Amino acid sequence: MRQELDVEVKDYKIIITDDEISKLIDELGWFTDGQKRLFVISERVYKLYNEVLNIDKSELLVLKDGEKEKNFKNYIKILTKAEELGLRRTDVIIAIGGGVIGDIAGFAAATYMRGIDYIQVPTTLLSMVDSSVGGKTAIDLGGVKNIVGAFYQPKRVYIYTKFLETLDKRQFFSGMGEVLKYAFIEDNCGYKHPLYLFEYLTLSVDKFLNKDSMTLMRAIEYCLNLKIAVVNQDEKEAGLRKILNLGHTIGHALEAKGNFRKYTHGEAVVQGIFFIMNYAYSKGYITYSYYRLSTELLEKYGFKSQIVKKGSELLKFIKRDKKATSKGISFIVPSNKKRVKEINLTLDEVSSLF
Ligand code: GLY
Repeated sequence: MRQELDVEVKDYKIIITDDEISKLIDELGWFTDGQKRLFVISERVYKLYNEVLNIDKSELLVLKDGEKEKNFKNYIKILTKAEELGLRRTDVIIAIGGGVIGDIAGFAAATYMRGIDYIQVPTTLLSMVDSSVGGKTAIDLGGVKNIVGAFYQPKRVYIYTKFLETLDKRQFFSGMGEVLKYAFIEDNCGYKHPLYLFEYLTLSVDKFLNKDSMTLMRAIEYCLNLKIAVVNQDEKEAGLRKILNLGHTIGHALEAKGNFRKYTHGEAVVQGIFFIMNYAYSKGYITYSYYRLSTELLEKYGFKSQIVKKGSELLKFIKRDKKATSKGISFIVPSNKKRVKEINLTLDEVSSLF
């Protein structure tokens, strides 16, 4: 099965397919015909798929996985390799891996010679449903996530769902966190008709957790249709795109507090969603019935709330988030079934929550 989605804002295609991975290299060959290429690939994916992918070693840069690797040193490594290979403005960087690889390779592509082509080949659920699409590229600095980056859209995204067969359980659940996020924001996204993602995820728990191929493809397609609808309206996060940050203010702070080791991104986002659901219910933004439906959906997928305790050090990390200003911090909060809104809390209001 093969689906093609169009991102109008910069006129590129996303291919979603359950084809064999061996086909990917042919597709990339046709698409980049005539261009010099630098493949930036995750070490884990390289070890598993090196033989199938059969990429010429001279075109290859292998980087370790993990948020800690999204750093300045690796960014320079990519630029140096691009320069050594003699990549020009007309050439291309191809990222094969999870969100870390996509973000850092995308940022290198955005800045090398003031911007060259790049292609995303996401290999984790999280990067398939979220980070590979929409053009957010970045590296981390001083323990702050994505603090240096650019909005820079890829030329194409190839989603080969067969990569998910070898994805480890923890990373799969991390991606599930972002999939679930889309269920809570669907009605804000402005997609042309309802997709009923909330209902679909509620009814497909077993199939999803057994990695049923059709279910995965459909969920990826739903999430991306929602994301594309948002990015088409607001590429640079001037307004609407902020809804994609549901659970992320607390999530990023939890990741940073745990030194990017304790929580995966998706686990931290889910904790952020639990927190903000509680907040929304306590403020009367959502009904008890929706509060229960939502938290039960998260629980059905195996997540448990570990609500952040009073007096926790989290506040320090929240204040360092990109979304914080001297006046306060922006939070995306549930406001109705499958709907959210932005609120700004002063630092004193935020302090009172912890
Ligand atoms: N991951 C959130 C966004 O792309 O805006």
